[in-house]
Amino acid sequence: MKNPYYSHPAKILKIRKESPDSNLYTLQFKEAKIQKAFHFHPGQFVMAGIVGYGEGPFDICSSSMETTTFDLSIRKVGKITQKIHTLEVGDTISVRGPYGHGFPMTKLNQKNLLLLGGGCGFVTMRTVILDYIKQKPKGQKIQVFFGVRSEKDFLFRQEFATWSKHVDLHLIIAEAKEKKSRYHQGVITDLFDKVKLLDNLAVIACGPPIMYKFCLARLKDYPISDEDIYLSLERRMDCGTGVCQHCAIGPYYVCKDGPVFSYGKIKDIQGAI
Ligand SMILES: Cc1cc2nc3c(=O)[nH]c(=O)nc-3n(C[C@H](O)[C@H](O)[C@H](O)COP(=O)(O)OP(=O)(O)OC[C@H]3O[C@@H](n4cnc5c(N)ncnc54)[C@H](O)[C@@H]3O)c2cc1C
Ligand code: FES
Repeated sequence: MKNPYYSHPAKILKIRKESPDSNLYTLQFKEAKIQKAFHFHPGQFVMAGIVGYGEGPFDICSSSMETTTFDLSIRKVGKITQKIHTLEVGDTISVRGPYGHGFPMTKLNQKNLLLLGGGCGFVTMRTVILDYIKQKPKGQKIQVFFGVRSEKDFLFRQEFATWSKHVDLHLIIAEAKEKKSRYHQGVITDLFDKVKLLDNLAVIACGPPIMYKFCLARLKDYPISDEDIYLSLERRMDCGTGVCQHCAIGPYYVCKDGPVFSYGKIKDIQGAI
């Protein structure tokens, strides 16, 4: 996008219901030259909303190699997201960005990856998985741990069968499962007891702070450096561009310097996680 500070209208091409409170929106900028110039890295986000209602940060969750459209998965929690959920195919969402720093994929592609996703924090993992499936990098393997409260909370459920052909996918639900369920039961950290992790591993984690706390404690048992663990942080955001200071953590702005940080970079900042 030429001027990343401008919002541009994007048309809703498709809406897919993902869970009781989340929809997946496939969007395309109305101006062809804006769509053509829209490139992003896995882990980056846009500010999206409706003129007159406001906007909020949302991770881009399509493949970064898809250039004609892009996807946002939006959970209905409050004023803006409720309004977005009333929109239909053909309606318009205003989008500016992409913003922030995503995952350092060139560096990460030298390693096997463990993706840790909790609840709707899993959104941004979809880009990493779709890119991996498209690129098929030689020698690299991916393990995925995705944990939710109950089965209905899984995002992208209809893609699991395809993903499983390419990545080692482990799905876990907290609530009691039916006897023949294909899911593990428990919390995401329980998967560390059930699955042997790959060697030469880097970690990407997206989820609530409580998940980070317990996963980081488990990761200490493995030879993975703090610099090889990447966390995507969420903060309330207004500008998305390092101006309003709403998303400050220590010396960093989550919007501009993140939302992806290595654990090594933020582990000593009080309140960062
Ligand atoms: C970098 C980043 C990426 C994000 N990506 C996604 C995404 O891909 N999909 C998605 O559905 N949401 C995502 N979010 C969260 C999303 O931005 C908020 O849920 C949304 O802005 C809420 O707007 P609202 O007006 O509907 O809710 P509000 O009316 O503002 O708030 C409703 C409730 O949601 C809580 N809330 C609002 N914003 C946040 C937040 N950032 N984190 C935690 N709680 C919040 C409020 O405290 C309140 O309880 C992301 C947030 C960040 C910072
Ligand atoms: S959202 Fe304004 S500085 Fe980050």
